[in-house]
Amino acid sequence: MLLSKNWSVGRRVAVILVVTAAAGLIPYAVMRATDSWVLPSSRTGVLLGLLGAAIIFFEMALYVRKKFRRFKGWPPLLWNVRVWLWVHVVLGIAVLPVILVHGKYGFGGFVPALTMVLFLATIASGVWGLVVQQWLPQELIDTVPDETVASQVNRVAAAYVGRKPVVWSKEHDRDRTGEIFRLLESLTLEGAEPGEVLPAPGGGAVVAARSEALVRGKPAEELWKFCEGLLVPYLERGRSSGSPLASEYDARRRFMQLRESLPAEAWDAIGRLEQLAQYRREWDAQQRVNGWLHAWVPVHLGLSAAMTGVMLVHAVRAMKYW
Ligand code: HEM
Ligand code: HEM
Repeated sequence: MLLSKNWSVGRRVAVILVVTAAAGLIPYAVMRATDSWVLPSSRTGVLLGLLGAAIIFFEMALYVRKKFRRFKGWPPLLWNVRVWLWVHVVLGIAVLPVILVHGKYGFGGFVPALTMVLFLATIASGVWGLVVQQWLPQELIDTVPDETVASQVNRVAAAYVGRKPVVWSKEHDRDRTGEIFRLLESLTLEGAEPGEVLPAPGGGAVVAARSEALVRGKPAEELWKFCEGLLVPYLERGRSSGSPLASEYDARRRFMQLRESLPAEAWDAIGRLEQLAQYRREWDAQQRVNGWLHAWVPVHLGLSAAMTGVMLVHAVRAMKYW
């Protein structure tokens, strides 16, 4: 977004950082070289303060705009969230020199100093977020709020097990209709007639050629224990289940051990179980990255809201004595 997608991430990040640094430092260099400082309490100083405040109010309005994301249309240009965001970033950087010049590149007493610190932190968090977003595919920002991903992961994972994604409870332990249990039963239960057509894992059908279970006795017991104790909890609750399958290395080892204890005909089915655990690991990793990439937004929002509040106190107090 904002910057040409044809540019590499490194180039886009460099542009953001260089433009921000230039906006902050060039007025300082100019004023120093010409020794022409603007006094905060002069007319120009106060006008710059007011201009800064106007920009900051516009910046804060993005919060309101995002709450009404679904409204489209009028006014045609700025009402587009992407355009708004672009203007937000440009003005967010443009307000930096305005306020720095207003404050004479200093801090002053407690209230103006606090305003300045929060102001700089707000800009820094905005720039940080923009930099971080360069790594994130645009579709993810636009369409997938974190909660949706989180609840979908649990729902899809639960479908493999056959339980509804509800709070873990004994009652649901008997609700074994998902792919995992169908697979387990096809391996360990007797009674599949030769020639009987069974639903195959992952769709389609297989022709059963045996009436005796493929896996029996101790290995069958171990297989069920593995699925119920490690795989199902992992699919349903991910990392928080404490299952060793959360680690790719441990998972590979466990599945290897499992294969060794079973006849080769069962390996395909075990491969499928391993794949399900792999899915959960991938989704969780995706979710972690997604959450991490969004974590800065509340920080940016909190800082900007606090800054706006303190700025109003500073402005009212300063104007009282002006
Ligand atoms: C983010 C916004 C703002 C920041 C960070 C900020 C910061 C500062 C700083 C650092 C000073 C210098 C204090 C000193 O040297 O003693 C100052 C002075 C001043 N500011 Fe602001 N300011 C902001 C917004 C405003 C606004 C909206 C107004 C209202 C018009 C305003 C009015 C003044 C006035 C009148 C002074 C000179 C009197 C004084 O020092 O109290 N400022 N400001
Ligand atoms: C005084 C300056 C600024 C203020 C007051 C401000 C305030 C805000 C607010 C209130 C939001 C909405 C947060 C939410 O939806 O929860 C926002 C979002 C955002 N701001 Fe700023 N901002 C400022 C400067 C900047 C700067 C300098 C940048 C980048 C260079 C920036 C980048 C962003 C981005 C990318 C978002 C969208 C976050 C998202 O929806 O993923 N902001 N800002």
